[in-house]
Amino acid sequence: MNISVLRTQQELIDWRDAQDAQIAFVPTMGGLHSGHCQLIKTANSSCFNEKTVVVVSIFVNPLQFGPKEDFTQYPRTLEEDIQIASEAGANALWVPSIDQVFPNGTDSHFKIEVPTKLQAHLCGSFRKGHFDGVATVVMHLLKFIQPTYLFLGEKDWQQLVILRELIKDLKLPVKVIGVATLRDINGLAFSSRNIYLSKSEKEQAIALPQALAKAAKNANEAKVCDLKEIRSSLEKKGLEVEYVDIVDPHQLQPTTKQHFSLLAAAVHCGKTRLIDHTFLMSRKPIVAIDGPAGAGKSTVTKAFAKKLGLLYLDTGAMYRAVAWLIKQKGIDPKDTVEVK
Ligand code: PAF
Repeated sequence: MNISVLRTQQELIDWRDAQDAQIAFVPTMGGLHSGHCQLIKTANSSCFNEKTVVVVSIFVNPLQFGPKEDFTQYPRTLEEDIQIASEAGANALWVPSIDQVFPNGTDSHFKIEVPTKLQAHLCGSFRKGHFDGVATVVMHLLKFIQPTYLFLGEKDWQQLVILRELIKDLKLPVKVIGVATLRDINGLAFSSRNIYLSKSEKEQAIALPQALAKAAKNANEAKVCDLKEIRSSLEKKGLEVEYVDIVDPHQLQPTTKQHFSLLAAAVHCGKTRLIDHTFLMSRKPIVAIDGPAGAGKSTVTKAFAKKLGLLYLDTGAMYRAVAWLIKQKGIDPKDTVEVK
């Protein structure tokens, strides 16, 4: 794929204006990996009704790093990133300098303050100002790119929820699409920061997805999740736990809901901070599949149910069976009392 590498605001605007297509936008800070490829590929292959081009941005946003965080060390691997984005199917890569995003310096531009309740827990309570910085930069990037779709990884779940809420609150004409976390063969979620991990740290880090997966399995068997036990299992593997917490997945508030909640954790593995999460469900998920007649709903649903070990319920057949019975009994379908 021939990718356009754009650096200035003007190059971006000229490129954007030359496209006879809507834009699907994948914002990143670079250090692209398989997780980003998944985002780009999903953006590319989503069934939009209109012609769509995919724009990836690479901007290491200073506003979302705390003073003691890794802003200066953050991976800057542009040549590899161009190759990866291009192979994944991106049409353009916008790589602005800080002056292109904040021409008058970061302090001269409007900033977003994320509501306290959305950042009072999980990463927000340990990375003060981080989500304000994320929300601010995303607003500025959206202003330049003007996409129809915004693709974000579920890996950063709190970020995804906050950005969804921001876009909803400001009624921006952008549809947010979350893409499932991609993991390596050992279950470790892909992250640009994994590059900091030594071989032995990578082995240690696996304890995080393993502990979360075990908790999810337990929850599915209706066993109560013991946060202290998870914490100590991580510590035993030499990980320094920043937090392990259970919240409502959408409100990001503490919850005791057993049937559906978010279990999230942040740990330090050596000098590397890693985050991960899972959903705790005390029952199997209910997935509704709809579509026009003859679209293949039954075929897809049967295969899907088999693969995930779910029960297949053909509601269409249920309705038809009820309609048949009503007809058999000579009941007037409009007579709701008789039908009941
Ligand atoms: O997820 C990221 O890489 C960043 O937080 C984002 C959304 C690109 C904003 O800088």
